[in-house]
Amino acid sequence: MKNLFVAFVLICGIYAVGTIGQGVASAAPSGKILVAYFSWAGNTKHVAEDIAARVGGDLFEIAPSTPYTKDYDSVLEVAKQEQYEGRLPSLAANVENLSDYNVVFLGYPIWWYDAPQIIKSFMATHDLSGKTVIPFCTSGGSDLSESMNSIRQGCPNSEIAEGLTANSESDIEPWLARLGF
Ligand SMILES: Cc1cc2nc3c(=O)[nH]c(=O)nc-3n(C[C@H](O)[C@H](O)[C@H](O)COP(=O)(O)O)c2cc1C
Repeated sequence: MKNLFVAFVLICGIYAVGTIGQGVASAAPSGKILVAYFSWAGNTKHVAEDIAARVGGDLFEIAPSTPYTKDYDSVLEVAKQEQYEGRLPSLAANVENLSDYNVVFLGYPIWWYDAPQIIKSFMATHDLSGKTVIPFCTSGGSDLSESMNSIRQGCPNSEIAEGLTANSESDIEPWLARLGF
């Protein structure tokens, strides 16, 4: 009888463990959320605002201390040269209380098949060690993966979660759900 009871308890336990998480998205990374982004023409800003509203994050605009020209042809050249020379433009401002945040969404447009140099400046001046970094981009067709070497290099001690090429607004919600938000 005692053996039967033990077997019953064991079976219940195995069943309970087996059902945990079924039909439920993986747990969202816990803690305070920052949505840091750079945007030249507004597309990435729009996505960043959408994400921040959905996950309840604080927004931070990554901007160079000397603003980029508003002229498209000129900024193409400036960005190409900056990347070629590996220059890291200085930031207009830094995130205050970075240590408060456990999760950092990091958004940018793809510039010349990579993250813009200003994103590399951000990663070089903000210690994201131990945080979960969630990259997203907008582009004219390039995929986020083109920039991932730079993100991994810039955040060597962070947990890098699944990112998104956020060119379709309808992709945002299912992506956040996959991440557990
Ligand atoms: C300097 C520069 C370089 C770009 N390079 C690429 C590229 O390599 N691949 C791509 O698909 N789009 C490229 N684009 C297009 C932008 O990624 C796209 O328009 C993006 O949505 C702009 O985001 P924003 O409005 O937040 O600045 C480039 C745009 C600029 C201004």
